[in-house]
Amino acid sequence: MAGNWKMNLLPNSAQTLVEALSNEKPQHTQVLYFPSAPLLGCMAQWNLGKAQFGSQNIYSQSSGAFTGEISAELVHALGGQFTLLGHSERRTLFGETSAQLQDKIVAAWKHQLTPILCIGETLEERESARHFEVIQHQLLDSLKKLLPITSPLILAYEPVWAIGTGKTASVDQAVEVHQFIRSVLNELQLGLGDSTSILYGGSVNAGNAGELFSQSDIDGGLVGGASLKSEDFRSIIHIQDQCLHG
Ligand code: 13P
Repeated sequence: MAGNWKMNLLPNSAQTLVEALSNEKPQHTQVLYFPSAPLLGCMAQWNLGKAQFGSQNIYSQSSGAFTGEISAELVHALGGQFTLLGHSERRTLFGETSAQLQDKIVAAWKHQLTPILCIGETLEERESARHFEVIQHQLLDSLKKLLPITSPLILAYEPVWAIGTGKTASVDQAVEVHQFIRSVLNELQLGLGDSTSILYGGSVNAGNAGELFSQSDIDGGLVGGASLKSEDFRSIIHIQDQCLHG
């Protein structure tokens, strides 16, 4: 269960949040935090309990004259173990392309970070029934040169129209796309779809977590707004843990 804090929280509020949840010991659920970059160095100093953390982005190069970027090597040196890649806000606001993501995935693996590759369609793409096509392209364009994939990779399906809007994909919509992602991955590489964790993101909250995470094709969540409040995130973690237990 991953909390993407986006560009929110200051050191005090971030520490209060993670430490409020540090006693949580979900049996089946791995909790991950994705703070904004300047907080990464603090995360290893705070009591996270069993949770782990990562960055919201990395650059494809390990070091050099790339003002404003952060390297996988640095994230790893600060104790991070994961990185989000290709979040729709990165794609739409900062022009990130699938081809760039390919290089970023390689950089993550080189420095022992597990990439969480985010994909998903816009409202316009869904309304014109192009969502499968868009998702297939996003997957192929960022993964096909990396085959065979032998390093850890997590996928996150985040329909752009469900992010921060309070509108969640219905269970049927989410499951249908998760199954489609598995089939594309299986076509790319035998068994890849079956062995890859696929998270759902987009207005996840304690009210809808149960129906989403009880689906066997939805392996976890990437939570924005609701991950900023300890009580909400705690509830979502518990619900997910119960679903995996059941
Ligand atoms: P919300 O949960 O706020 O809709 O954000 C989802 C998201 O973008 C997580 O990466």
